Amino acid sequence: MRIPVIAGNWKLNKTVAEALAFANELKTRLAGVTGVVPVVCPPFLAVQPVAQVLRGSAIGVGAQDCFWETSGAFTGEVSPEMIKESGATYVIIGHSERRQFFRETNATVNKKVKKALAAGLTPIVCVGETLAEREAEVTDQVVNDHITNGLVGVPAADMARTIVAYEPVWAIGTGKTATPQQAQAVHAFIRARLAALWNNAVADQVILQYGGSVNPGNVKELMAQPDIDGALVGGAALKADSFEQLVKFK
Ligand code: 13P
Repeated sequence: MRIPVIAGNWKLNKTVAEALAFANELKTRLAGVTGVVPVVCPPFLAVQPVAQVLRGSAIGVGAQDCFWETSGAFTGEVSPEMIKESGATYVIIGHSERRQFFRETNATVNKKVKKALAAGLTPIVCVGETLAEREAEVTDQVVNDHITNGLVGVPAADMARTIVAYEPVWAIGTGKTATPQQAQAVHAFIRARLAALWNNAVADQVILQYGGSVNPGNVKELMAQPDIDGALVGGAALKADSFEQLVKFK
């Protein structure tokens, strides 16, 4: 039984003060929510204070990236252990914006995923094709490459607790959502690949989120698809009212 995970990726938005006010509001609005796991992923500086506010609530906290070493001479980096200590339990890894602007590759994603799992975090690993790749009809190859190489060597027990987010790059921040059928087709493909690369039990357990212009108007139909188990949301997760509606999509 996969419990849907609705995660807000705040990206580079909200100061610590704004994040705290927002977290307090969400705590009130989402008190008593069951049958769904809401998660917020603030910028690094706000992770710890937000986690403190949300401690004991139903809302999980995640970071938006991590490094693959615990400590050392790596200026500017933050380790999974530090994220865990701050009270967060999730970390987004391999978001397309990091692949596009910060040279993230499947190889770096793989190192980060393994380190995050070792630190006890739940990675939310992002995969997805660009518009050019979809038009060239290589979506399956690209997604397969992200999964095969980004997750290679992850033991089955760890894979079962890893979240994979399918985010077609052309749908991010564009208002262009994949249709529920388009998204379901890729999600079913991903689950089949997970079964082939690990086993059926792992494939059955992995939460597969969809991301890309998810909003209160389209969330219900997307979540109704058999292989869509949650959402990774950017813009619509930044307002308390719309995040509440997303979490309460049922
Ligand atoms: P939008 O919901 O703003 O399209 O962003 C999606 C996303 O990138 C979440 O990680």
